[in-house]
Amino acid sequence: MLVGESEIVLSRPELRALKGKVQLIFTSPPFPLNHKKKYGNLRGGDYVMWLAKFGPIMRELLKPDGSIVIELGNSWEEGHPTMSTLPMRALLYFQEQNFLHLCQEFICHNPARLPSPAEWVTVRRIRLKDSYTRLWWLSPDRYPKANNRNVLKPYSAAQTKLIESGKFNTGRRPSQFVIAEKKFAKNNGGSISPNVLSISNTRSRDGYQEYCRTNDIEFHPARMPIELPKFFINFLTSPGDIVLDPFGGSNTTGAAADELGRYWVTVEPNESYVRGSMGRFDAKQLQRYSGRLSGKASRR
Ligand SMILES: C[S@@+](CC[C@H](N)C(=O)[O-])C[C@H]1O[C@@H](n2cnc3c(N)ncnc32)[C@H](O)[C@@H]1O
Repeated sequence: MLVGESEIVLSRPELRALKGKVQLIFTSPPFPLNHKKKYGNLRGGDYVMWLAKFGPIMRELLKPDGSIVIELGNSWEEGHPTMSTLPMRALLYFQEQNFLHLCQEFICHNPARLPSPAEWVTVRRIRLKDSYTRLWWLSPDRYPKANNRNVLKPYSAAQTKLIESGKFNTGRRPSQFVIAEKKFAKNNGGSISPNVLSISNTRSRDGYQEYCRTNDIEFHPARMPIELPKFFINFLTSPGDIVLDPFGGSNTTGAAADELGRYWVTVEPNESYVRGSMGRFDAKQLQRYSGRLSGKASRR
């Protein structure tokens, strides 16, 4: 894990070694929020410009068939029950300015999300609970490395029964799609994942939190569920590939990459978050990383 601001760290000469070698940049940058988080969030046009300026360095580090996946949450206009279009504008500007293809948009739905924005959802009851973040999968290539067989979903009980019985309702569907019996009766090891991911972000006790409590370190306030980076790492990389998160926070991405046998590099300017991130690794892993958790790139 590298300590410092991404714009400075990623242009360090020693990182030239990563040029053209990163298979996946998976990141959740500070969101353009109205209520500022502790680590600060820019607003308006400043945010749009700030995010876009990371494009050239990301492209330089990326393999030609690599991917960039950026997660951004929704934001609301201050004092009004209306959504800000800023996250969408920021993604669009990032994509256009850096000549990237939008391979696919994903929604990460958190069914356990508490009702918000509170004023409009729980007090005045005129809006619904805002419960998803948006992810854009971008690439300089129209055909970046990807394999949806690596992220199959287990068949439901009903699907398993259908496959076993082979009794499909074949023929033309209202959408004009023709269901062929042979194609659907085959067991492919799971069903193809939709681009809506449903992941509850509710962990109240895990190794990370235990570690922070024991060592009197403040928790990172915006950690993502580890299932999210794991999904994209499995989908878009193979074991041994390099994954980069330029806005590492508590290093959920690094921990996911490590578990899946990928090399990882993350950047975070807040030293306390970096110290807390050590709670994501066991003693054996830490020994492997010793001396590399601050300042130098970490490798398996
Ligand atoms: C939304 S959080 C990322 C959380 C992370 N995905 C996790 O699961 O812990 C964004 C992080 O970006 C960091 N950050 C803010 N400005 C930065 C910059 N210029 N360079 C690198 N990191 C920055 C913040 O300190 C914060 O930890």
